[in-house]
Amino acid sequence: MHTPIEQKLVKQEIEKMGLDSVGLASIRELNRIVNNIETATGQQFIRMEMGVPGLPPPKIAVDAEIAALKQGVGSKYPPFDGIPQLKTEISTFVKNFVDVDIPAESCFPTVGSMQGCYMAMMCCARRTRKKDRILFIDPGFPVNKLQARVLGLPYAHFDVYEYRGAKLGPKLETYLEKNDVAAIMYSNPNNPAWICFTEKELEIIGSLATRYDCIVMEDLAYFGMDFRQNYSVPGHPPFIPSVARFTDNYILLISSSKSFSLAGQRIGMTAIPEKLFHSTGNNLKPFFGSDRFGYAYIFGAMYALSSGVSHSNQYGLYGLLKAVNSGEFNFVDHVKEYGDRAFAMKQMFTQNGFTIVYDMDDDQPIADGFYFTIAYPGFTGVELVEELLYYGISAISLTTTGSDRHEGLRACVSLTGEERFGELADRLARFQADHAEGNDFKIIHT
Ligand SMILES: Cc1ncc(COP(=O)(O)O)c(C=O)c1O
Repeated sequence: MHTPIEQKLVKQEIEKMGLDSVGLASIRELNRIVNNIETATGQQFIRMEMGVPGLPPPKIAVDAEIAALKQGVGSKYPPFDGIPQLKTEISTFVKNFVDVDIPAESCFPTVGSMQGCYMAMMCCARRTRKKDRILFIDPGFPVNKLQARVLGLPYAHFDVYEYRGAKLGPKLETYLEKNDVAAIMYSNPNNPAWICFTEKELEIIGSLATRYDCIVMEDLAYFGMDFRQNYSVPGHPPFIPSVARFTDNYILLISSSKSFSLAGQRIGMTAIPEKLFHSTGNNLKPFFGSDRFGYAYIFGAMYALSSGVSHSNQYGLYGLLKAVNSGEFNFVDHVKEYGDRAFAMKQMFTQNGFTIVYDMDDDQPIADGFYFTIAYPGFTGVELVEELLYYGISAISLTTTGSDRHEGLRACVSLTGEERFGELADRLARFQADHAEGNDFKIIHT
């Protein structure tokens, strides 16, 4: 059987990596294997394994950072909690797009929202004695669980697929009633499934966080990127759905990587409501030298981790946010292309026998965005990862994301522009022709 990418070479590169299963490879491992196959075969894959922005960074941010560097900020330590003008702009940004009032004092930059998540875990899990567990609403970003493990924190997780809408509350309570949950974490829109919680679901999460005194770590890594609504006009509804409207026990973790195409700069934002920032915790002092939550965050966690964020980078983000807040730069328009790609690519997959695994938000079809999830009859996700490699398509298995849908893969649209759609369609048609019902051809078992 002839496949678009020569089988012998694919197998050879998989074997060279020495993994038990290519289908269970981490994102970075799969990335390496596909790089190696591309080099060995000279053929280009449809790369859907990694969630990296495929768009250039906004010129406003680049220019603002260059100007700051030229003025010499590189020789000076920045404040741990950010330059004042950036803190104010983050506060305005949150007001403009989420419609919540968070003072500049408790808005600050972090080294990517990844560091923001890490700090949030550190502080939430040490806030209250005997409450140190992180509860992940899955599927989720595997690195967050790695963070919990690195910090030595216990965690629990469940796949939300079967618990959408009114079923979410009772499911959450089975964990919360043990009274050891420090924080609930999820991303919204969700990596990997691109599900977006409804207002009703956010209200359930928020009211339970208040009742059980745990903190919601709301990971807004794809801020404003549910393109079904136009969230792009500062200060005007509709506002980005957030648990912030339903509880004071939350931390917003906002990434600049995808919404602003600034992944390489490693700058994100954290916003903590005033009430939580000025609250105290009976377990903070031994770790952070103060029982005040906000103080522990800045002078404990941030000091210990990186003592702030690169100075010039803060000016870059400041310049961009100023333009976004004033309406001069529409960041949603800049990334909308991902939604258009997802619409087209999902069609190509479903027309060739694939199904969308996470397909609904309660009673509404899921949005088209940065990721989507796929399955093919007769394959587990782990098998499908490898099988698709022979057809020049790379994606990761949902098994690595805490999903119970072991048949599924996560596909990221960011590196596949329209110019590659023809190739993708051809490869999928080949796949379908080789695997359609009655034809049980599977390379991985031969
Ligand atoms: C859900 C989620 N959270 C956090 C991040 C990391 O964001 P940052 O690049 O700002 O550290 C990502 C990046 O892929 C993500 O998907």
